[in-house]
Amino acid sequence: MKSLTLVLPLVAMSVLLSSCDNGGESTGGEPKTEPVKGAQSVSEAIFGQMPDGADAKIFTLANANGMEAKITEYGAILVSLTTPDKNGTLADVTHGYDTLEGWLTNTSYFGATVGRFGNRIADGKFTLDGKEYTLATNNDPGGIPCHLHGGIKGFDKVLWKGESFEGEGARGVNLTYVSPDGEEGYPGTLTTVVTYTLTDKNELIWEARATSDAPTVLNVVHHSYWNLSGDATTSINDHELTLYAEHYLPTDAGLIPTGQVASVAETPMDFRSAHVIGERVEAAFEALKLGAGYDHAWVLSGEKDGELNKAARLKDPETGRVMTISTNQPAIQFYGGNFLDGTVTGKGGVVYEHRTALCLETENYPDAPNNPEAPSAVLRAGETYYHKMVHAFSAE
Ligand code: BGC
Repeated sequence: MKSLTLVLPLVAMSVLLSSCDNGGESTGGEPKTEPVKGAQSVSEAIFGQMPDGADAKIFTLANANGMEAKITEYGAILVSLTTPDKNGTLADVTHGYDTLEGWLTNTSYFGATVGRFGNRIADGKFTLDGKEYTLATNNDPGGIPCHLHGGIKGFDKVLWKGESFEGEGARGVNLTYVSPDGEEGYPGTLTTVVTYTLTDKNELIWEARATSDAPTVLNVVHHSYWNLSGDATTSINDHELTLYAEHYLPTDAGLIPTGQVASVAETPMDFRSAHVIGERVEAAFEALKLGAGYDHAWVLSGEKDGELNKAARLKDPETGRVMTISTNQPAIQFYGGNFLDGTVTGKGGVVYEHRTALCLETENYPDAPNNPEAPSAVLRAGETYYHKMVHAFSAE
């Protein structure tokens, strides 16, 4: 139970039901009235329909500084996030689609909440309390099958139930999903509540809490693709990255950690001080060859930002936008958008080319259920899983 923070049951939040204080109800996907800069608000609308006809809502959170986060009930997905650059110009810094249809027909996990187990499980198998479980093998890097991001119909492809709320200097949405016992091969009925909160301090906080009626394994992960330039046609190789980690987890050709915990010193994996991502991404280094670039987990050193572990600092030098990430989790996956290959058309008709966005996913170790050295990924009845991730935005 090393990695699981036990917390009290979900605190009742002041829920503001149907809080369309800017006249937000519509069926066209966008609130009728957009929040004006400086007007903190939370509104909801219908984003689109699921294949069975069920409505998927979209919530718009706006803060005192004009930032806006849009979150849909489908996949508990962050649809967009606008942040100011050094001149105060707001732009969306995430990859995604304009419509629900885009997310329904593509599987790049843009902005999604992934689970039950985010990242990979070797061969789609794990043993818990002496019983072996078999999951879908829906990914095969290096031609080696594995289970990725919860399987064929993971948390990113189900409809969550959203309820907005307003708090002191912040507003957000709670999204709940009850995953039945056996879904995607995982044991236990798992109830997960994901909370997105946008604060007036320009933080986007993502939290996941989960309880199960039987022992299970999980690793619920937020999977936004970031390009802080606000121009999704540009490469993230120009971004500067710091990772607060002395070690990373080398993988085999199937991107499964080997069990070794390697020092980053004197390798292209060393981001202890800020480095331009493109500087070493093509280096003749085994891990980078296997990952087709950066696609690894780094073990966080435990340097603190309040109670949380400092995880990452990302900066786009051109626009001056900075995003820092802190978390209660032990590791962070830095994925450099290596599998983006110009085959997906996203928001505004932009074709997402190679390395035009990156993911920084706080989490437990990949394949933790099969790695005795990893922090435990087991959740038992009566315990509460809690994952907190704070994205703080600024510009310089
Ligand atoms: C993984 C990548 C994978 C991507 C899919 C990332 O979390 O590290 O290997 O291709 O998710 O979106």
